[in-house]
Amino acid sequence: MPKVTFHRDGAPAETVAAEPGTSVMRAAVRIGVPGIIGECGGQAMCATCHVYVREPYLDALPGLSEDEDAMLDFTVAPRDPRRSRLGCQLPLGGALEELEVDVPAGLE
Ligand code: FES
Repeated sequence: MPKVTFHRDGAPAETVAAEPGTSVMRAAVRIGVPGIIGECGGQAMCATCHVYVREPYLDALPGLSEDEDAMLDFTVAPRDPRRSRLGCQLPLGGALEELEVDVPAGLE
């Protein structure tokens, strides 16, 4: 089963396994990762699922849609041009069998 690890400053990393197709946002909300809210339910309309993807997973990410690109300009934490993504737009599985992300501070 695919898995994703969430890293937050000052907290132990949390890893969760999820069914293929589950988004990083849904996996985070399921285990209550502080800082990932998923307010819009995964419609790329709220940016409360902002994460910074870690190396070496960047090259395996799906492309950025126009909506996601636009929404990433409204994140609470600064956008990282290479690492910022919306967790709701990252389905686990396939090329993303494993993923590690940093959760930005600010929405806890
Ligand atoms: Fe709203 Fe991802 S859950 S943008």
